[in-house]
Amino acid sequence: METNRIIQGDALTELQKLPASIAQSIIADPPYFNVLEDEAWDTQWKTAADYLAWCDAWVAESMRVLRDDGLAFIFGQLGKREHTFLHLMSRLSQQHQFHDLIIWDRAVGYDERRDSFTPQYEMILVLRKGDNVKFNKDAVRIPYDAATIELYLRDKRYKDKVARRAHLESGKFATNILRVPSLKGISKEKCGHPSQKPLGLIEKLIACSTDAGDLVIDPFLGSGTTAAAAMRLQRRWIGIEANAEYVRIAKQRVKNP
Ligand SMILES: C[S@@+](CC[C@H](N)C(=O)[O-])C[C@H]1O[C@@H](n2cnc3c(N)ncnc32)[C@H](O)[C@@H]1O
Repeated sequence: METNRIIQGDALTELQKLPASIAQSIIADPPYFNVLEDEAWDTQWKTAADYLAWCDAWVAESMRVLRDDGLAFIFGQLGKREHTFLHLMSRLSQQHQFHDLIIWDRAVGYDERRDSFTPQYEMILVLRKGDNVKFNKDAVRIPYDAATIELYLRDKRYKDKVARRAHLESGKFATNILRVPSLKGISKEKCGHPSQKPLGLIEKLIACSTDAGDLVIDPFLGSGTTAAAAMRLQRRWIGIEANAEYVRIAKQRVKNP
């Protein structure tokens, strides 16, 4: 099957055409439902019930194309008082096997709410298909700063300082709170999509859940972040995107990931 390609079309229709159990990981950053109120693609559904029913359908197809040891990462954004994603997480966890709930800490707030704390995170629901998932904890480590390494080296329990330093310099396992700064308007990475995700975040999701050569599928490719991240990590990929302009941007992007 041809990989490393962008399919312009509807996610549900195009997922239905793909064979079962081909993807090691699914990275899905779908429309959020009336969070980005100026975007036609986020306001396509009359009611939350319509949106949730549509999500049931494309997630079921995503799980069909996922391998038994694969993971599906499903982004959700809570904006203002919109809370549909909470219902979505609950019902998807009833329909499929829950694996984890990752917090993407965007490092800075993104909304000007006067009556509550400024929102700073997004959630990523992680679903599994079977009990034995491929997951490489070593692939995503967070470096210690130099002062912390020097402090920990003073711990007298560790006699072999060379081995201890090498261990500390490899960093610590990442937690399920992933802190990756969101993209600013002036960011070099920005390429014209209103909800473009940082490459560094998508790379972490791909690195922990796949090996080189594995296939990653993104049903809502947008500006092509998943494709670029997959190429940088030598993974194969397929991306689906409905909007012709975003397809154009993504095609341009994958020429120089
Ligand atoms: C949240 S954005 C994805 C952004 C992407 N992660 C990135 O980093 O650029 C959701 C995308 O889904 C696309 N979309 C909306 N409805 C779709 C559908 N039915 N099938 C495929 N793509 C769709 C929108 O055009 C939009 O680009």
